[in-house]
Amino acid sequence: MSICWLDGKLVSADKAKISVFDHGLLYGDGVFEGIRFYQRQAFRLEDHLQRLKYSALAIGLNIPYSMPELESAIYQVIHAFAETDGYLRLVITRGIGPLGINPAQCQRGSAFILADQTNFISEQVKQNGAKLIIASTRRLSPDGLDPRIKSLNYLNHILARVEANHAGADEAILLNAQGHVTEGSADNIFIIRNGVILTPPVSDGALQGITRETIFELANKLEIECHARTLAPYDLYTADECFLSGTAMELIPVAEIDGRRLAFCPGEVFQTLLQAYKARVYSEVEYTSQRRAAS
Ligand SMILES: Cc1ncc(COP(=O)(O)O)c(C=O)c1O
Repeated sequence: MSICWLDGKLVSADKAKISVFDHGLLYGDGVFEGIRFYQRQAFRLEDHLQRLKYSALAIGLNIPYSMPELESAIYQVIHAFAETDGYLRLVITRGIGPLGINPAQCQRGSAFILADQTNFISEQVKQNGAKLIIASTRRLSPDGLDPRIKSLNYLNHILARVEANHAGADEAILLNAQGHVTEGSADNIFIIRNGVILTPPVSDGALQGITRETIFELANKLEIECHARTLAPYDLYTADECFLSGTAMELIPVAEIDGRRLAFCPGEVFQTLLQAYKARVYSEVEYTSQRRAAS
């Protein structure tokens, strides 16, 4: 059963209700985080809370709870959830206001934390690799909306995903207005060429993904070159390996992009990173659990 913390109250998710006057619902006016927990320990929670705080600051939204209060609410949800592992959606909306886009009269933001299972990706795709298309829908330009803001506005990502559905693909890649690769509809993209890992820079329109950051750290530790570089569709089509990263999906190998089959799937570099990622999760979960038990 899904469980939800809604402005201080823990309820079953189907009983959690939000007002039709909430500007998060009316205009996508809000910010969010997707957070994984393993063995009832939230993974990279500090990073998620910091990104949430910065996203809210950037849109001038006052989070109605302190970070320790949110952390405590997150652990209430994790402990109330039936499984030890799962996925959390932490959402802060602008709150209730009059029907008009102006947020000035929204008195207080609203927060909820929803726990659920993480079956976003099938086992078959995890094993055999994802089929991607490059969508004709472009990502919002960084000069329109800074890609570091993880906001509730996902409509163009949804439109890209609709294109993927129509094409029978698993995920869509969005380009920016210049035709450079940005990211997937809900994930970052990496390619590997001649043993070097490359991913689009945030300035081209990629979210500063926390899994992406973890990959940079792991590559550094493994002494595999890893850089943020502007990429064109050509770079994806001709890559040796390609994979997607995100909290919900973790690391997923890519088999095919717009009908071009990649040389290796899952490739060697991907498999090395995946093992290192799993080990990193395991060690951090151990560490977090010991630190929380001691405090
Ligand atoms: C558009 C987009 N890009 C990338 C990501 C991956 O980010 P993270 O690794 O922090 O989950 C997400 C995750 O929700 C996303 O929505």
